[in-house]
Amino acid sequence: MPARSNAEIDSLTEASAKARHAALSAEIAEADRLYHGEDAPEITDADYDALRRELEEIEARFPDLAGTGEVSASVGAKPSSRFEKVRHAVPMLSLGNAFADEEVEDFVARVRRFLNQPDGEPLAFTAEPKIDGLSLSLRYERGRLVTAATRGDGEVGENVTANARTVDDIPETLSGKGWPDVLEVRGEVYLSHADFAGINARQEADGKPAFANPRNAAAGSLRQKDAAITASRPLHFFAYAWGEVSEPVAPTQFATLEKFRDWGLSVNPLTVRCTSAADLIAHYEKIGRQRADLGYDIDGVVYKVDDLALQKRLGFVSRSPRWALAHKFAAQEAFTTLEGIDIQVGRTGSLNPLARLKPVTVGGVVVSNATLHNEGYVQGVGGDGEPIREGRDIRIGDTVIVVRAGDVIPKVMDVVLDKRPAAAKPFVFPDHCPACGSRAVREINPRTKKLDAIRRCTGGLICPAQGVERLKHFVSRNGFDLEGFGQTYIEVLFEAGLVKQPADLFRLQFEPLKAAIVARREELSAQRRAEGETAPKKPTKKKGEDEDKAITNLLASLDARRTIPLNRLLFALGIRHIGESTAKALAKRFPDMPALQAALAAAAEAQAGPDWLELSAIPRIGPGTRDKLFAEAEPLPGEALKGLSTGARLRARLTSAQGEALLTHYETTDAADAALERAMTQVPGDAYHLLADDGEIGPVATDSLIQFFAEPHNAGAVAALLSQVTTEPMAAAATVTAFAGKTVVFTGTLEKMTRSEAKATAERLGAKVSGSVSAKTDLVVAGPGAGSKLKDAEKHGVKVISEEDWLAMLAEA
Ligand code: IVH
Repeated sequence: MPARSNAEIDSLTEASAKARHAALSAEIAEADRLYHGEDAPEITDADYDALRRELEEIEARFPDLAGTGEVSASVGAKPSSRFEKVRHAVPMLSLGNAFADEEVEDFVARVRRFLNQPDGEPLAFTAEPKIDGLSLSLRYERGRLVTAATRGDGEVGENVTANARTVDDIPETLSGKGWPDVLEVRGEVYLSHADFAGINARQEADGKPAFANPRNAAAGSLRQKDAAITASRPLHFFAYAWGEVSEPVAPTQFATLEKFRDWGLSVNPLTVRCTSAADLIAHYEKIGRQRADLGYDIDGVVYKVDDLALQKRLGFVSRSPRWALAHKFAAQEAFTTLEGIDIQVGRTGSLNPLARLKPVTVGGVVVSNATLHNEGYVQGVGGDGEPIREGRDIRIGDTVIVVRAGDVIPKVMDVVLDKRPAAAKPFVFPDHCPACGSRAVREINPRTKKLDAIRRCTGGLICPAQGVERLKHFVSRNGFDLEGFGQTYIEVLFEAGLVKQPADLFRLQFEPLKAAIVARREELSAQRRAEGETAPKKPTKKKGEDEDKAITNLLASLDARRTIPLNRLLFALGIRHIGESTAKALAKRFPDMPALQAALAAAAEAQAGPDWLELSAIPRIGPGTRDKLFAEAEPLPGEALKGLSTGARLRARLTSAQGEALLTHYETTDAADAALERAMTQVPGDAYHLLADDGEIGPVATDSLIQFFAEPHNAGAVAALLSQVTTEPMAAAATVTAFAGKTVVFTGTLEKMTRSEAKATAERLGAKVSGSVSAKTDLVVAGPGAGSKLKDAEKHGVKVISEEDWLAMLAEA
């Protein structure tokens, strides 16, 4: 909504002013939310300021409107524009982390080693609580506060001076005497738990989103454009470090903090001096015990070498001081209720369960969502390397234990069975993808023969949650090899709605393609402007021409792929378990897609049924026994079994151990016999074996292909693609060329063809292409920039030729 001019405002009627005021204030509130709440602004500073100004003008003309709507211009001071940048005179660095006690011992030993100080000699450290807020640098000149800046990226921060002046713990002028002319005090801005709760209550009462934790609330409060809002938030500050100083303050960290206190700055009272790793750890544990009662969040204890001369000698490793260490507290746990389970579809089609929790504070952070990993995890049968909670599935309504470690996403760690409500039912995963409606299935892991912990969408090509990843795979080098489409174009075209499935690529037209690319470019530069970078110059005419040429080239590269070897197309489809070599094996067996699809349809008909599969998974009943059990050629034995059901007669063919395994599984003989009888009619047929028994294709790929094509969406996407492109048989590896059976290695940059083309050509001529040079290598083709492989070739006495020689050899072959 563009802001309106004064004249337009003047002509507003009371009713329209009211509507406009409400719309403006809603939009400003939304912009505020994005900027402050999510740090993800969607409008420029200038646009924001224009909206604010218009709101002010409307309120000036219609004073009754002031105070109505979500935000109002009349409350508080006039908001400043977005913050200026401040370059820190001394960068604001970060700290190395440790969790285990041994790491603290290592730290002390490391410092001693660096300083060449034997164990006996005294070495002092400070131990200070690590405040979980946001760091702030205060610059005092001649004892007066002149600038306050956030950390930013450590080099450049935001100027928040006006806001910092509203914080009680930050003195406007330093008291006492002896402070240097220039003194940059650094420390942490934070909120107490009580004030955090108060702020959130107010946010909620105002219909605004609550802050996730005190740190976010402190950051949101300090980074207000309106200092009056900051003033209304009871922020606190602890000083613990410094930047530029015109003269040294004191010889030690501890004494410096005491000086800070003398000058009216707030310093954390739990800071102590220690002389050994054991002392440090003891203090860490003591603070850990006090943690819950402090009234503000801390996330660890910071150790610093006390002597500043030693600090200077120790210096920095990359961006952290060698003289300091942050000893963090371990993961926090809390109990809460699982209110619901949402399913999100991952970029690879996995159905990821997300716990909706009754909000709970875990180590000072309010958690309302946590990961439940996957279906297997919810069922308690393991998955994702998490422990198996046998017989302990997780149900909606359950009391669960939530943990949070560092910045890692919180997770549901366990369930409290004693507290399970009587009505709680096992959670049933959707068997269709919530993003695209295709079937969602759990595979049998071909290696372990166990049910995969993850349920996956079978929508592959058409699932919007997976779309971009699938398309990227489609255009990748060993797929359609559309280099120009790179990874960015695909994203742009997908978002613009131009390309949703592979066939769409081949329907692209010049104009819409150009429009999408231009729109994206403009979006990017607007974003850069909003972030304060200088805008790139207007595209010149020449640039426009280049762009047209690039688009023409893109379309030409697509046309060049309208005929493609079957194996490449199969690989490009990104069907699970169909990698390059399986795609080749399939292309060897089938001349084209219709032939393959016909074979798959027949195999699907002849696929084993569920009872046969269930029987096959029973321990002790191996494939040999199973097949013998049902072999028609072998008549069911003897007179003695007459009168028994078919199932019972089948069971009689098993050894007693196998019979027992069968009974353990099916529980009763009747159930076992019935299952056997059903399984007998579900034996996979020849059409299935044709594919599944092919050593190069196998049952896993066969099942996956059947499943893929059973999904009408997928079959449709393939049909659409085939209306745009034609497959050709896989280039047969010629056996009688000079290259047959030779091992070739390509290295360096090839100028006349891409690596994948070179590889394909060599393979077509019967060569094997390898990635490394050994004594077994026959030929190395080296382009510019070739390095170690060239040396290896020399070492092994392998023949090396240039790309040009290679092309000449190809011409001959
Ligand atoms: S000293 C060069 N001391 O932790 C080291 N930092 O993870 C400067 N922090 O960016 C930092 N309490 O925001 C130091 N007592 C303390 C601290 C502390 C909290 C924060 C600070 C820093 C971060 C590093």
